[in-house]
Amino acid sequence: MSNIVIIGTQWGDEGKGKIVDLLAEYAENVVRFQGGNNAGHTMVVNNRQFISHLVPSGILQGKTCFIGNGLVVDPAVLIEELDDLEKQGFPIPPDKLKISEQAHVIMPYHRRIDHAREIKKGKNKIGTTGRGIGPCYEDKATRRGIRFVDLIDPEFFKDRLSTILEEKNFYLTQYLQSESFEPQPILDEYTQYADRLAPYITNVSAVINRCIKSGQNILFEGAQGTYLDIDHGTYPYVTSSNTVAGNACCGAGVGPTAIDSVVGIVKAYTTRVGEGPFPTELSDETGDAIQKKGAEFGATTGRKRRCGWLDAVMLRNAMRLNGVSGTVITKLDVLDGQESLKICTGYEADGQRLDEFPVSLKVLADCLPQYEALPGWAESTSGIRRFEDLPFNAQRYLERIEELTETPIYIVSVGPGREETIIRKNPFD
Ligand code: IMP
Repeated sequence: MSNIVIIGTQWGDEGKGKIVDLLAEYAENVVRFQGGNNAGHTMVVNNRQFISHLVPSGILQGKTCFIGNGLVVDPAVLIEELDDLEKQGFPIPPDKLKISEQAHVIMPYHRRIDHAREIKKGKNKIGTTGRGIGPCYEDKATRRGIRFVDLIDPEFFKDRLSTILEEKNFYLTQYLQSESFEPQPILDEYTQYADRLAPYITNVSAVINRCIKSGQNILFEGAQGTYLDIDHGTYPYVTSSNTVAGNACCGAGVGPTAIDSVVGIVKAYTTRVGEGPFPTELSDETGDAIQKKGAEFGATTGRKRRCGWLDAVMLRNAMRLNGVSGTVITKLDVLDGQESLKICTGYEADGQRLDEFPVSLKVLADCLPQYEALPGWAESTSGIRRFEDLPFNAQRYLERIEELTETPIYIVSVGPGREETIIRKNPFD
């Protein structure tokens, strides 16, 4: 029996979806524990592409998938995904998808507040995905949220909605200069969602813990990445949940002793969507070339991702914050053909070398990355399946990442397909 957490070590979009999909083969259950439909996972199976925002990636493997209490869920998006999957030949019965009764529900006013706030902030905007994620988590913390258990209780839901709307309408119209909501259309819409999703809603913590007791393997699937973590990320340019591995426990309702190892996903270079400092950003043709070759567009918003060199300062910090046991390097093939590569090994700020990632965004914005140059490789790596067969310089690049992160590389991904993978160690073994 083995329970593994998979998390992103950068700003999200590290390619977790493919790796979760790949490793789900060795687990009976896949659990999401935070975030919402701000995430987007692209999976390619038999040359067909699936993008999922809420349904855990293991769904295509026929695994039992869980949406933990730590998520905020837009029911319309979840239903759309279930419908899409059914159309593609993957109907999802309630024994294959379980939604925590404690997960919070994204309401229309959350989305409207998210949008209106970003407009009001102007150039200081966070660059959110506009899905209502932040406003929903905010209501959870201030105890004005609606959980799935509340949604399927019609009387309670009606009362709660009318109390909440009073305040939301005031804030929307008076502060954000936006429009207010009437309760009835929301009640009508959300009652339909409640009816549709009711069979899936359950005590997820109890079910997962039963699976653990019976010796089944669990894969906990993180969304976003370490630097979007509300505590440990580049605050305030972060998402509203804890994205680090420790939150797998809180967000799914399991104890820390249930986790056996943590797999950190590292893209072979760095990308970021949204605003905020990015020390190794490449605002030149090399950055453009990586953006194009890596098809670096947000899976949720379609925005172009900013691209830059690999940053080992960030990675070292991420290894510590998540207690990473081993890494997966993704998109190595995107670097094929680069004459030379750079890895940032330290920052310089105010003439001083910093070995740790600074917390102050002012300091981070002023940091000068200290680079180590490595020779690139001309050959294509996509068809390679064994580490020893990689071009010598690609092996050197990967080995240098291992040294700098002091963490072994378990897997290298050299293309989007499941088979385009080099497995050195299966974390479930
Ligand atoms: P929110 O999560 O929509 O509130 O957005 C907050 C920040 O997190 C923005 O910079 C988003 O672009 C970023 N973000 C949220 N989800 C993801 C993701 O899955 N990948 C990359 N960035 C994300």
